[in-house]
Amino acid sequence: MMVNMKQSSPPVELSGKDFLTLTDYSYSELSYLIELAHDLKKKQKSGEVFHPLQGKTLGMIFEKSSTRTRVSFETGIYQLGGMGTFLSTNDLQLGRGERVADTAKVLSGYLDGIMIRTYSQAMVKELAANASIPVINGLTDVYHPCQVLADLQTIEEVKGGLKGVKLAFIGDGNNMANSLVLGAAIMGMHISVAAPEGYLPDTAITKKAAKIAAASGAKIEITTDPLHAAEKADIIYTDVWASMGQENESTAREQAFKDFQVNNELLALAKEDVTFLHCLPAHRGEEVSADVIDGKHSVVFQQAENRLHVQKALMTALMG
Ligand code: CP
Ligand code: NVA
Repeated sequence: MMVNMKQSSPPVELSGKDFLTLTDYSYSELSYLIELAHDLKKKQKSGEVFHPLQGKTLGMIFEKSSTRTRVSFETGIYQLGGMGTFLSTNDLQLGRGERVADTAKVLSGYLDGIMIRTYSQAMVKELAANASIPVINGLTDVYHPCQVLADLQTIEEVKGGLKGVKLAFIGDGNNMANSLVLGAAIMGMHISVAAPEGYLPDTAITKKAAKIAAASGAKIEITTDPLHAAEKADIIYTDVWASMGQENESTAREQAFKDFQVNNELLALAKEDVTFLHCLPAHRGEEVSADVIDGKHSVVFQQAENRLHVQKALMTALMG
């Protein structure tokens, strides 16, 4: 079998760059990454070996739980010829108070890239500012940009493109909603976010998105009416009502979100060929009914698989 060590040089230079939030990247840069993800997926499916990151190591810091992010990054770096090392903050000296800046400088001497999942976006920024290697945001309380890259790849696969597609996000104005609003704004996709009063996406982020949208042609709408948001949508997306770290708010949130379940009644308002997306993990019977997530409109497992392909593209571009 042929082992391909090289990739063709990218039209955009991303080597050494961090990936902390989607607005660090332009339309062309995100398009390039998604294109590369499609290509790497094809290579993977045809059994072609591609080792552009031979001998490189990705450190994966986790302060929150994960199934998809951990396994897709660890498998992804291995498939690219490198290796991943799992670093739980319970075991790192970071968890015992070692400074973030010192950790960043030390890890930069051993690793070729860091992926971090934690609570604070400011901490990820501080890590990146003090590291001399690329830092990738694997989810914070504010953003989940890797998930949105996979979502964009999935939407391209299912709808054939992004421009002019209408995505309705129904549920909590959380890290997923924030990143989806920014991703849609950059890529020229229309997005309507429906959340109850008090749970709307971050205002500073939606304002930033509106500015970007003015140039890209995207339409951004924030509403408290899920039925209005779902109208003629191409994509309906939801996420858990209580994110990691909000477990003690679960009961209050179940009450606040009771009219925001994605079920067949809501889907009926969207286009006939509507696609259902969810970043997972999902709570059937809460934010989504079982018949929707397990039904014919749902592509959630294709979406989850794309985390692997798109993050391989990201690592290839940033760590190559
Ligand atoms: N969607 C997602 O990030 O899943 P994990 O929490 O399992 O990584
Ligand atoms: N909003 C969810 C996403 C999980 C992938 C959380 O932060 O827990």
